[in-house]
Amino acid sequence: MAVIKIKEHELELRAANPEQDLPYAYGLFKRLTESFVESLAGKWPEQEQYDFFRKGFSNPNVQIITQNKKPIGCFGIIEEFNRVSVQRMYVEAAWQGTGLGRWIIGQALEKARDAKKPLEAEVLTTNNPAIGFYNHIGFRVVGDYNYGWVKQHAIRHKDTELYVPACLPTAKLER
Ligand SMILES: CC(C)(COP(=O)(O)OP(=O)(O)OC[C@H]1O[C@@H](n2cnc3c(N)ncnc32)[C@H](O)[C@@H]1OP(=O)(O)O)[C@@H](O)C(=O)NCCC(=O)NCCS
Repeated sequence: MAVIKIKEHELELRAANPEQDLPYAYGLFKRLTESFVESLAGKWPEQEQYDFFRKGFSNPNVQIITQNKKPIGCFGIIEEFNRVSVQRMYVEAAWQGTGLGRWIIGQALEKARDAKKPLEAEVLTTNNPAIGFYNHIGFRVVGDYNYGWVKQHAIRHKDTELYVPACLPTAKLER
């Protein structure tokens, strides 16, 4: 377990346990994204969303953020063959706006620079708060993907644009 300091807060980071932490993390994902999914899909497609979330959550690079051992969020910084991606980034509503998202992206940028790969993510086209966040910290939309109800922007951090030619093609899609 690592201790991290974000502004005045002392928090802990630990590797997610893909089974024990799944109910908490899936619940957080559902609470935070339900309205954006519903505006695309009509209603939350429970089994599909559960299978999607569980698959990515089992990656060994997914981390749980805690305060005094109590979970307050999760995220994964994943090095893929052609890019570094940020996935499963969900911060409890009460902790949003405290600098955690900026800190996570800072860590991801460091990993992308070390790997000389572009830093990318996907965001639902209806998730305007997250789109605003990503835009504010330097991401730009580089593509749009549609699979059934899933409509996503593919986004890339502009500071890692220089790594793209070395490792085309980009964005490996999960669903
Ligand atoms: C998206 C998310 C991870 C960002 O984390 P956060 O801790 O709230 O973000 P921070 O407090 O670090 O904000 C970083 C900066 O972005 C800015 N910002 C945040 N949301 C913004 C928005 N909608 N528009 C413009 N700027 C925004 C903040 O003001 C802050 O600016 P500053 O550092 O220059 O002062 C978090 O809000 C979250 O979990 N949202 C719900 C789940 C979600 O949508 N996840 C992403 C799925 S793709």
